Amino acid sequence: MPNSSAKNTQDNPIPQHVAIIMDGNGRWAKERGLPRIDGHRQGAKQIHQIIEAANEFGIKFLTLYAFSSENWNRPKEEVEALMSLLSSAIRENKKNFIENEIRFRTIGDVSALPKSCVNDIVSLESATKRFDKRTLVLALNYGSRDELVRAVSKITHLALDGKINPNKIAWKNIAENLDTAGIPDPDLLIRTSGEMRLSNYLMLQAAYSELYFTKTYWPDFGRDDFAKAVAEYQRRERRYGLTGDQLK
Ligand code: FPP
Repeated sequence: MPNSSAKNTQDNPIPQHVAIIMDGNGRWAKERGLPRIDGHRQGAKQIHQIIEAANEFGIKFLTLYAFSSENWNRPKEEVEALMSLLSSAIRENKKNFIENEIRFRTIGDVSALPKSCVNDIVSLESATKRFDKRTLVLALNYGSRDELVRAVSKITHLALDGKINPNKIAWKNIAENLDTAGIPDPDLLIRTSGEMRLSNYLMLQAAYSELYFTKTYWPDFGRDDFAKAVAEYQRRERRYGLTGDQLK
């Protein structure tokens, strides 16, 4: 359990799905007089601790924003370093995913990533697709607006093929054509580093997510910080548009 007072009870459930914006790697490095990529390297190491903590707390889905559709505009060396970190992290952790029975999935248009990254991703996805208790989702070349454009295109084709009635499109049809099809909406969305915005991350899926912001930079965000965020989530009252009295 995240802390001694936080239990997974009906009134204070553990979030089923936690989404994280891992921000602050660059500032973490700068404050130490290091190149930005050292911040990303430390950030990549931190992911391991957070996956272990998610398992410990009983969180079923963990979605991490690893590379946004806008991150291509960063300096070329930084983009290349991030891609290389991604490939090594996937290769080095393959055994861990299998031993711990964690399914690996991605959201975003991974086809635009370097071929070697795509191969590593496909290989880990297929090696873990039989696992159904815990899932790690990496958002790669992901942006909500891009995702929505892809979903609209798929739905338009379904309508043109007569497989969907354009007059009867419901949220369900949209949800099942988003990259996150089959993944429940995040209950808790965490952003590290003190920035307070969503940056095109899971904009539709986070409609009712509880938001948690911390000043801690991602490379310093450890198990106890995560536990604190989960405990804070457990104290929140989720209303989904109802009044507090209606919920009682
Ligand atoms: C934001 O920090 C972080 C990113 C854009 C990338 C996140 C990547 C990692 C944690 C490491 C690599 C990922 C994997 C999956 C191995 P920032 O660079 O925007 O920090 P700043 O705002 O302080 O400059």
